[in-house]
Amino acid sequence: MSDPEELQSRLSRADAGYYTVEVCRGIATKIDRIRELKLQRNAVLLAHNYQRPEIFEVADFTGDSLGLSMKAATVNEADVIVFCGVHFMAETAKVVSPGKIVLLPNAKAGCSLADMADVKDVADRIAELKVDHPDLGVVCYVNTTAAVKALCDSVCTSANAVQVVASMSNKTILFVPDKNLAAHVAGKLPDKVIIAWDGHCYVHQQINPDSVLSVRAMHPGIKILVHPECRDDVVKLADAALSTSGMVDYARDSDATEFLAVTECGLSDLLAVQAPEKTFYRACKVCRFMKMITLDDVISSLETMQPEINLPDSVRIGASRAINRMFELTASMAAIN
Ligand code: 13P
Ligand code: SF4
Repeated sequence: MSDPEELQSRLSRADAGYYTVEVCRGIATKIDRIRELKLQRNAVLLAHNYQRPEIFEVADFTGDSLGLSMKAATVNEADVIVFCGVHFMAETAKVVSPGKIVLLPNAKAGCSLADMADVKDVADRIAELKVDHPDLGVVCYVNTTAAVKALCDSVCTSANAVQVVASMSNKTILFVPDKNLAAHVAGKLPDKVIIAWDGHCYVHQQINPDSVLSVRAMHPGIKILVHPECRDDVVKLADAALSTSGMVDYARDSDATEFLAVTECGLSDLLAVQAPEKTFYRACKVCRFMKMITLDDVISSLETMQPEINLPDSVRIGASRAINRMFELTASMAAIN
């Protein structure tokens, strides 16, 4: 039986006001039920770093998009993957682990950035650009639908975007869909011609330089960690531009004691829970999609085995090719499927 008081002492580091002992008593009961259901279903639960703190308590693995896709490809012992993240991440898990049942506990957990790249629009743009650039390479950020991934030469994540584009032989690259990440890659690789899709993340786009500069003015020695989905004028202020897991590793390994994680607020919650000896200030915004999955959704999903992610073979095979290309280019792991 989970101990509500122990839970409260951990979770209240993320939000002291919300996680009262009473609330943690309810959470403890739900956590116990989820652990029971996971055993019954032989399920593993993968959670993105932006999820609610109580979801981390039931996760078998917590990570960024790259880490989660690699984990989903290698959880051989499980029959079911419960994916606590957003739709494109659960689709990626299905692509790399087609023999498993993949559940996304709340079907409404989408991603507005992924929705900015419609599959027909991307196909039309590729055809149009190939007229003037026969050597065009197409790189899709992992925040795209599986159908869009199937149109690309390689996928990338925030952890390896520069490495993926640098490893491609094509000089001209169409980068879909995040224009901020595209600008970050272009800044690091001046020999490449990067054509950016006009998309952005509504969460990171709201963060402005003033909110970062005001924290730095109050805490001069602070380390500023910025997600590359942020605007260029915010990324410029960073000590390091990193994926969400890159930020966790940086904060854990650094001798510094004060940090500002400039990204979605769930990352600040995770850092506060995982590294209580360090101080984390906030210049973050909440992603409504990443906060949709609740413990009740996880219980209901494991009880009903719904909502399940399924993909047509043509999409799955095309997306698998582009994801494998990312793994090959970055040599992060052996090719899958
Ligand atoms: P990471 O891969 O860095 O975790 O980012 C995913 C994401 O959706 C950021 O908004
Ligand atoms: Fe999508 Fe932005 Fe939310 Fe990440 S933070 S899931 S990119 S809307």
